[in-house]
Amino acid sequence: MAAPDLPRVLSGIQPTSSSFHLGNYIGALKQWVAMQEGHEVFYFLADLHALTMEPPDPKVLTERSRGAVAQLLAAGVDPERSAVFLQSHVPGHTQLSWIFECLTGYGEASRMTQFKEKMARGSGDRVSVGLLTYPVLQAADILIYQAHYVPVGEDQRQHVELTRDLAQRFNGRYGDTFVVPDAFITPESKKILDLQDPTAKMSKSLPDAGTLNLLDDPAALARKVKRAVTDAGSEIRFDPAGKPGVSNLLVILSAVTDTPIPALEADFDGQGYGALKNAVADAVVAFAEPLSKRVHELLADPAEIDRVLARGAERARPIAEATVRDVYDRVGFVPPADV
Ligand code: TRP
Repeated sequence: MAAPDLPRVLSGIQPTSSSFHLGNYIGALKQWVAMQEGHEVFYFLADLHALTMEPPDPKVLTERSRGAVAQLLAAGVDPERSAVFLQSHVPGHTQLSWIFECLTGYGEASRMTQFKEKMARGSGDRVSVGLLTYPVLQAADILIYQAHYVPVGEDQRQHVELTRDLAQRFNGRYGDTFVVPDAFITPESKKILDLQDPTAKMSKSLPDAGTLNLLDDPAALARKVKRAVTDAGSEIRFDPAGKPGVSNLLVILSAVTDTPIPALEADFDGQGYGALKNAVADAVVAFAEPLSKRVHELLADPAEIDRVLARGAERARPIAEATVRDVYDRVGFVPPADV
């Protein structure tokens, strides 16, 4: 276990599909793995958040949650070094969330970009109150552990800003209670774009042909890369505005092979798009195939996954409980007497 004086890192991800995609990995999970070094880390599956859109079939949610844990472990999250747990296993998250709901303006919550986007996509009556308070629960997730750093993708920056505001608001009103956390968005956590529409972020809600799922079979991965939309011209150059398709392929290749983009540009000097696509297909398959194999091995023993989660929650719960106790005390709730 990490020494307690190391800076604390916390992050979460929703189990909203059966497979994470390469954008999730490069945008977030890769940083999670790297940050195990030199930090005390807490990583959880945001299963409560997974109900905020259209709640999945219960069996599907259960399966996705265990599947997501297996993917984290296969990607290099080490349960000895990291507390890996489910949000629903630590009741403090929702307890603290209520307190923050009462400190968040209705207008403030309804102005959040992601809420507005999701609202625009769903019809009015399918938009739940949970979707509105989603970022408030996220703030509770982070603040309950007094986390210093929150490794997330660029799309979560605004939610971490709200988290900072709420921490400061609470501290201002009730005295110093919460660490004000920083979002940790590394330059490497570049946006991975859809292969068929390189103006949009890679996303499970877009057609499957544009998404490289970690659990896709090798033939599917290679096919998707080879059919990726490229740009006019023939030169392989990193130019996200002028050459979004080619630049996206370079970002992917750079991330899965840990090679800087300028080195790749030099390697492919004078070669065509076909050569780049072959290299990306090979690299993505070389990365995803063993990962996928490991996921299936892990999933063959769900009891072991559940034990990992139990140990993770055991590490998280005392910290969460202490924060809730302190917060309840500060807001003036009468402490329950020992009888
Ligand atoms: N909203 C995050 C996402 O969609 C998931 C999340 C929930 C999270 N709680 C969190 C991320 C706390 C970081 C910290 O990716």
